[in-house]
Amino acid sequence: MSQFADKVALITGASRGIGRATALLLAERGAAVVVHYKRGEAAAKEVVEQVLALGRRGISVQADIEQPEEIRRMFEQVGERFGVLDIFVANAAATAFRKVLDLKPHHLARTYQISVFGFVQAAQEAARLMAGRRGKIVTVSSFPTLRYLPNYAALGSAKAALETLTRYLAVELAPLGITVNGVSPGLVETDSSRTYAGEDFERFQRDIVESTPKGRSGTPDDIARVVAFLCSDDAEWIVGQTIMVDGGMTIPSPYVRLPEARP
Ligand SMILES: NC(=O)c1ccc[n+]([C@@H]2O[C@H](COP(=O)([O-])OP(=O)(O)OC[C@H]3O[C@@H](n4cnc5c(N)ncnc54)[C@H](OP(=O)(O)O)[C@@H]3O)[C@@H](O)[C@H]2O)c1
Repeated sequence: MSQFADKVALITGASRGIGRATALLLAERGAAVVVHYKRGEAAAKEVVEQVLALGRRGISVQADIEQPEEIRRMFEQVGERFGVLDIFVANAAATAFRKVLDLKPHHLARTYQISVFGFVQAAQEAARLMAGRRGKIVTVSSFPTLRYLPNYAALGSAKAALETLTRYLAVELAPLGITVNGVSPGLVETDSSRTYAGEDFERFQRDIVESTPKGRSGTPDDIARVVAFLCSDDAEWIVGQTIMVDGGMTIPSPYVRLPEARP
């Protein structure tokens, strides 16, 4: 019996990167998967093809998470197609990478609409579809809620709110049988980390790898495996936690030279 047989999972931002890897892993382990995307229609359809090829049910759903009406419609489509929801992974994010003094109100508004306001609305919708089931909600945060990363104030502060919401929701939904937790990835090579670092990506990656005890940067699959664990009943006793998934990157003090990483 597959681990997530008979489960229905919605993963936002599943057209690429960490969301895509999570959608494919959950499908591999038995889940029917809703692949949400905003602009990447062809990429999302390709993910659905792979889900179907695994013998699972799958659909793609388009929604701009900056638009409350589109969030509502996304869950309506999940309800119409599957009737229920067991797993909701709040993965999609977007922002403007700027210094605090250069942030305009609309940069903050758009970042917060996706990661904070949109998340609250989505969690409310998800909880309704999870009624009577042992649902799992997993949020995807980011390590610069705890550490300074240049030009990351808008998203770092939105993700800090997301981590707090993860704790509050976890307490309020536990009596309903729904488990809520989060992951906080370190550097993962994806379109958005490449956009963040621009032409400096290789140097940025090298610097991070140098201060990462595991001696490499993360892959989307590194994160997807932990998300899948949090979606499983094995993680039922973990409540309201945001787990750092970063190869140890945030542990050492920057003033300490790390021992050579061993392969
Ligand atoms: N990569 C890293 O190093 C890293 C580190 C820490 C945390 N994270 C977090 O991990 C998550 C995934 O990141 P990633 O690097 O895998 O990203 P990615 O590859 O750039 O993908 C971003 C996804 O979000 C979707 N998206 C963007 N704006 C949206 C909007 N307004 N409405 C709905 N969907 C929207 C995109 O959809 P379309 O492409 O279809 O438009 C895409 O599927 C994010 O929450 C990110 O903050 C990433």
